[in-house]
Amino acid sequence: MFSQRSRAATVRGMRMTVIGCGYLGAVHAACMAELGHEVIGIDVDPEKVAALQAARAPFFEPGLPELLERTMATGRLRFTTDMAEAAGSAVHFVCVGTPQKRGEFAADMKYVDSAVDALLEHVGAGELVVGKSTVPVGTAARLAAKVAVREPGAALAWNPEFLREGHAVEDTLTPDRLVYGVEGGAETERGRSAKALLDEVYATPLKRGTPLIVTDYQTAELVKVAANSFLATKISFINAMAELCEKVNADVTQLADAIGHDDRIGRKFLNAGLGFGGGCLPKDIRAFMARAGELGADQTLTFLREVDSINMRRRIRMVDLAREVCDGSLIGKRVAVLGAAFKPLSDDIRDSPALNVAAQIRLQGGDVVLTDPAALDNARKSVPDISFAETVEDTVRGADVVLLLTEWKQYRDLEPAAISGLVKEKRILDGRNALDPARWRAAGWTYRALGRPRA
Ligand code: UGA
Repeated sequence: MFSQRSRAATVRGMRMTVIGCGYLGAVHAACMAELGHEVIGIDVDPEKVAALQAARAPFFEPGLPELLERTMATGRLRFTTDMAEAAGSAVHFVCVGTPQKRGEFAADMKYVDSAVDALLEHVGAGELVVGKSTVPVGTAARLAAKVAVREPGAALAWNPEFLREGHAVEDTLTPDRLVYGVEGGAETERGRSAKALLDEVYATPLKRGTPLIVTDYQTAELVKVAANSFLATKISFINAMAELCEKVNADVTQLADAIGHDDRIGRKFLNAGLGFGGGCLPKDIRAFMARAGELGADQTLTFLREVDSINMRRRIRMVDLAREVCDGSLIGKRVAVLGAAFKPLSDDIRDSPALNVAAQIRLQGGDVVLTDPAALDNARKSVPDISFAETVEDTVRGADVVLLLTEWKQYRDLEPAAISGLVKEKRILDGRNALDPARWRAAGWTYRALGRPRA
């Protein structure tokens, strides 16, 4: 029977394993070490492990390089490719990716399954396997059965993660809530022991009063996809309003401010523009729809299909707007693109609206030059047939139109006068409603945006 092991080492923190050292796992491992635990990060990619072991973050995340340096210097954090080193940890976090399957909406579970299978070779009695990956509801119960067959003395919990890229360190160290999915919702001995171990993991945030919801596996799994679906819906709602604003020359940013003052609605996540991208929201709503279909609830989530369509239409609208201001054709037009990452403070280009727009403009004959403060290397690998520049000045030189597609602070703060003398035509398209139209127009620019009046 699974029961929490008494460990004299508790005061010094627990020994734990973090499997999968991507955006989620690397941050989680470093943050757990920061909380005082002894952590081993495990990944199948030797390059990633070598970088992390040298205290180098393999991706852009504010605060992570400093955190890695600090925690590795304590000796509490190390990285390896050897799964056997998981043996003896009290808790094993599974943080591998669940990307969208090729040609399907469903999530690809092959990384979760192979990580758990490999891990179970080394899990002993009294140890807890904790899933953090975003998975289709029902996965935890399926994996708990695997754990029970391999090591009846071990247990499984589901502990979804709500961190945002760009704020991942603060979100992990000071989460706004913690959710534990445990066997029987902690009504069983095994469930209670799993909760006790997780309480020990998160002792510091719990002491600070972080809200905790202890529930069953399926509710914990649903919490995660419900949260991301709600956020995606909020963004697509305001982008639908932007579509309407365009029809009547109204201002979606003022509309968002006005409805956002109602605290039942709230202003956050009502920024209209190019819409959502990244490695989570788009694939999570699709996987949720696919899972609902498998569960016989086909109609329940059909509204998410519309959420997805509104979102993708914004990218097309941006390309159309670029063509419109370039006198009806993009062929041979010099198009300067500011931003490649799916959002600021990230180098992540997975399903990036910015890069998608840049690629479509290229396909329509535009001569695209793109810059980004963090995502240039990733963008180069993904869209090789556009040009790249390191600076804003080199990007906009000779441009027929400038497109702001990712609202990095340095682009939001751009002075029209700083680039007015460099471009061929003073035309700017604000894909994120991040600029002050009056300032740009006063400097003689044609300013257009998604969901904002023409002039
Ligand atoms: C999202 C969730 O916000 C996290 O809570 C969750 O943990 C994470 O997914 C995940 O599942 O791992 P993230 O993908 O890092 O986090 O990015 P968000 O900050 O949610 O932004 C997503 C996209 O929405 C970006 O492309 C952003 O530009 C866009 N967005 C956001 C808007 O278009 N308008 C807004 O008002 C807000």
